[in-house]
Amino acid sequence: MNILITGANRGLGLGFSQHYLQQGHHVWACYRDRADVFDAEASRLHPIQWDILGATPKSEDLPSHIDILINNAGIYGPSKADQHLSDVSSQTMLQTFEVNCVGPLNVTQHLHRLNLLSDGSIIANISSKMGSSEDNSSGGTYAYRASKAALVIVSKSMAVDLADAQIHVITLHPGWVKTDMTHHTGLIDVNTSVQGMSKVISQARNYAAGSFIAFDGQTVPF
Ligand SMILES: NC(=O)c1ccc[n+]([C@@H]2O[C@H](COP(=O)([O-])OP(=O)(O)OC[C@H]3O[C@@H](n4cnc5c(N)ncnc54)[C@H](OP(=O)(O)O)[C@@H]3O)[C@@H](O)[C@H]2O)c1
Repeated sequence: MNILITGANRGLGLGFSQHYLQQGHHVWACYRDRADVFDAEASRLHPIQWDILGATPKSEDLPSHIDILINNAGIYGPSKADQHLSDVSSQTMLQTFEVNCVGPLNVTQHLHRLNLLSDGSIIANISSKMGSSEDNSSGGTYAYRASKAALVIVSKSMAVDLADAQIHVITLHPGWVKTDMTHHTGLIDVNTSVQGMSKVISQARNYAAGSFIAFDGQTVPF
């Protein structure tokens, strides 16, 4: 299979990239400016520079068909303390929204316009339970929560709009994972999260289009 992953130079994106390479697939691993983390010897690995808010890559750098698109790139925004009701700024809200919601939409639009996504393709948008209204009992974290909630809704619209083309769209929650984003304080490691999410992706058509699913296969209410 051909798999394109955004934000693949570290954290969960790098974990996904390594997982699918080990499974024998071709991986288009997108990065902003750190290509040195990739194994130059890996023959099925295709590093590709793509800031999801920046210029789109040249067509010749992309695969002719994408079986799985993982919209993984994202930011937390400023620290939790700087996302309190009393402190969060318009700029923080908009910047976080742009990366976490508009970015995945930009990527999907570009690949769809080039007809690289078609019958049988899966799109997995990586959101977070932090974007679930039902799961929100602690408040705060305005920018991250709102941006990830917006991604769930955008992902659902993609799922509806692309269903006739047999492109199946799901949204994923990785768990609380030990990466740079959590300052490595998560409850699970990257491997556990990626193994779980890739299993869900492989069974994606067992879930309704636009479903929000955690790494352990449980549906997340939103
Ligand atoms: N870790 C968790 O517990 C957790 C929980 C729920 C959801 N998530 C979500 O899972 C995804 C991956 O998180 P992570 O923990 O692996 O985070 P991470 O370690 O901070 O990695 C984030 C990745 O996104 C990339 N990125 C950020 N802005 C980008 C942009 N404008 N264009 C292209 N790439 C960009 C980063 O690239 P650079 O290296 O260039 O900055 C990096 O590769 C995110 O969407 C996150 O919100 C994570």
